[in-house]
Amino acid sequence: EKGGYDHFMLKEIHEQPKSIMDTMRGRLLVEKGIIQMAGIWDYQEKFLNAKRIIIISCGTSWHAGLIGEYLIEDLARIPVEVEYASEFRYRNPIITDEDIVIAISQSGETADTLAALKLAKEKGAFIYGICNVVDSSIARLTDAGSYTHAGPEIGVASTKAFTAQLAVLTMIAIKLAKHKGTISKEKFNSLLTELESIPVKVEQVIKDTEEQVKKIAELYVNVNNFLYLGRGYNYPVALEGALKLKEISYIHAEGYPAAEMKHGPIALIDENMPVVVIAPKTTHYDKIVSNIQEINSRKGKVIAIVTQEDSQVKNIVSQAIEIPAVSEYFVPILASVPLQLLAYDIAVMRGVNVDQPRNLAKSVTVE
Ligand code: F6R
Repeated sequence: EKGGYDHFMLKEIHEQPKSIMDTMRGRLLVEKGIIQMAGIWDYQEKFLNAKRIIIISCGTSWHAGLIGEYLIEDLARIPVEVEYASEFRYRNPIITDEDIVIAISQSGETADTLAALKLAKEKGAFIYGICNVVDSSIARLTDAGSYTHAGPEIGVASTKAFTAQLAVLTMIAIKLAKHKGTISKEKFNSLLTELESIPVKVEQVIKDTEEQVKKIAELYVNVNNFLYLGRGYNYPVALEGALKLKEISYIHAEGYPAAEMKHGPIALIDENMPVVVIAPKTTHYDKIVSNIQEINSRKGKVIAIVTQEDSQVKNIVSQAIEIPAVSEYFVPILASVPLQLLAYDIAVMRGVNVDQPRNLAKSVTVE
């Protein structure tokens, strides 16, 4: 059932070109120039008039939510807040019937997320679900939604469900932007075309980086700490990369927005502290380059995710992992893949149970 792979996690990493495509199938209709999502279309007025959108989730799904915030605010210009379900439900949140809540959950059974949604529903919010498990408790509670079609995810560490969540959030953001008129028709069409090419590019990233990432993992298998940094769309990617590493390899890892480094974490940097920097040639490129220089001058080792053919970053880091050049909206999907592989390889080399890490459950049905 592992399809020839040693672990479900590796199988699921490799399934991503397909799971992203399955999630876009029937929705991303490039020829017709539309994104077809009944759940959004049927409640279009609600979305277009929403005062704000609140995204509620936990763990990896919360990281997808953060990327959703950047996408929806940037493209559709609707204010978005992203909340940990466990914090939201216990802090007497302000919520009204003019709010839209988007719940993101792979399992659809996460106790805190479910309870937070019940609370929001009682207060009159409209609830939209992004779940992977059909007919799960969260899916049943929502007013509308879009399933991710990632297929069953067995490995405890979420991989293909995460990138499928990003695919759904990207489609929602682009669709809302079109209906709101916040992007031009030309931009809408070019985003559609580019999004359609992402599964093939994910496939290319897996093919091009798998062996290289294994070699990088060998170099760092025995370190005790890792820092992950990114800016803008790639700040949540850094958080997710760090979570993947800590949960399956048991190495302490922290994700930070790169600019926050000088407000504390920089004190940790020395020759024993590898820093993974997501540094594509998109917005904030120069700023991320100067962050890398700051790490270098403290002798930190930088592993960077860079855009293909960008030699500037390559020349100043210990290891550079290349991803194809895409618009910044799509970088998180591509950049996440080598980070999943890195966590996987390090965990395997440390001889731990990758698919079933200690203390963790696939579906967190208790708070
Ligand atoms: C990490 C991971 C968890 C889940 C979290 C929420 O790899 O899988 O952090 O993302 O427990 O689960 P769902 O998405 O099922 O609500």
